[in-house]
Amino acid sequence: MLIHHQLTVNGSSTTRVLIDPDAGQGSTVWPSVGEYPIYDEVLYDTLSSDALRNERFRAALRKLAPGRVALDIGTGQYLNWARESIRSGAEHAVAMEVMDETFRAAEHNLRAWNLDHSITLLHGNSSELTIEPQADLCVAEIIGSIAGAEGAAAIFSDARRRLMTDDGVVIPDRCTTQAAGVCLRKVLDRHKIAFSPSAVPHLTKIFAWNQGFFDVRLRIKEPDPRGVITTSAPIEELHFNGDLRTEQEQRVELEVDRAGHVDGVLLWLQLFHLPSCPPLDALAHHTSWASVYIPLFPSEIPVERGDRLALTVVTQTSDDGIHPDYHVTGALSTANGRYIGEHISAHHGHTFRSHPVYRTLFP
Ligand SMILES: C[S@@+](CC[C@H](N)C(=O)[O-])C[C@H]1O[C@@H](n2cnc3c(N)ncnc32)[C@H](O)[C@@H]1O
Repeated sequence: MLIHHQLTVNGSSTTRVLIDPDAGQGSTVWPSVGEYPIYDEVLYDTLSSDALRNERFRAALRKLAPGRVALDIGTGQYLNWARESIRSGAEHAVAMEVMDETFRAAEHNLRAWNLDHSITLLHGNSSELTIEPQADLCVAEIIGSIAGAEGAAAIFSDARRRLMTDDGVVIPDRCTTQAAGVCLRKVLDRHKIAFSPSAVPHLTKIFAWNQGFFDVRLRIKEPDPRGVITTSAPIEELHFNGDLRTEQEQRVELEVDRAGHVDGVLLWLQLFHLPSCPPLDALAHHTSWASVYIPLFPSEIPVERGDRLALTVVTQTSDDGIHPDYHVTGALSTANGRYIGEHISAHHGHTFRSHPVYRTLFP
């Protein structure tokens, strides 16, 4: 049975949140968290124990770090990539962290591990810091479940312009956000459309940071792949060592490959740590990156094999100058008609309960 949880932020504003008390395991709904300054020990531990993610970063550093000056942007409390750079033979590493509490924990760990001679730790946002000499390697895990959601395009562009030598290299090399048509009910497998109970502390922190409620991105942990019923295509491409764009527009056409229903799209990350390596795929592999569901149509639309979903995704930097908003438009062509739907997935703001799925989740 689903329950209503009363959520209060900043002492006064309240909303109800729909919770599935049984949603502990399998496909569940969470808010997307990586793009907000709400990291805590649990999130850092989740990242640090993601074996696939870590091994890909380590392999890239073993190849590129020897002899270089490395810059680790968003080092976290464990200084993972600064330490790994030194272990792989970097001459020196500079680590940057913006969150106060995380920085203090990193500072404590750096001293405890006796690494302060090889790693320089700086407190602040990379866009407001300078380093001397410039780095010839930049490594950062500021990649979201929607690849660019944590501001990677703006942050790496700035680092390449100011903090790195002209011949410096970036790890990861590139990433894409893939999209496919889905029916939310199906990707949630046997679960109901409701938040997991463990989502409540994250919702509370995000809304407190935003100073109000808004339509948070819906992160689907372990979506059931049987709910994905169209082909997939990239709707965001970020080339960190090449032509890196902070804003972009992508148009793709997806084909329904079996009969079912569509009410939105699922977005997920493909991450290429090195130019030549196969991607880490957040839908196919077991990793801490999840998928994000974007609602498009007010109800489930029946589709047949061969029907087409044309998507246009406009990625625009939000008013904080770093984190993007995503404007997704879909045109679904079926034998019974053509359906148009859209959704603006904003990083922050005050648009709340804009779509039936949000009115279900926040009744
Ligand atoms: C996903 S966590 C990664 C932590 C660690 N590097 C790892 O991979 O395990 C991203 C971290 O980057 C920090 N961060 C994000 N943008 C930053 C920026 N522009 N400058 C400094 N720190 C940043 C966040 O506070 C957070 O600690």
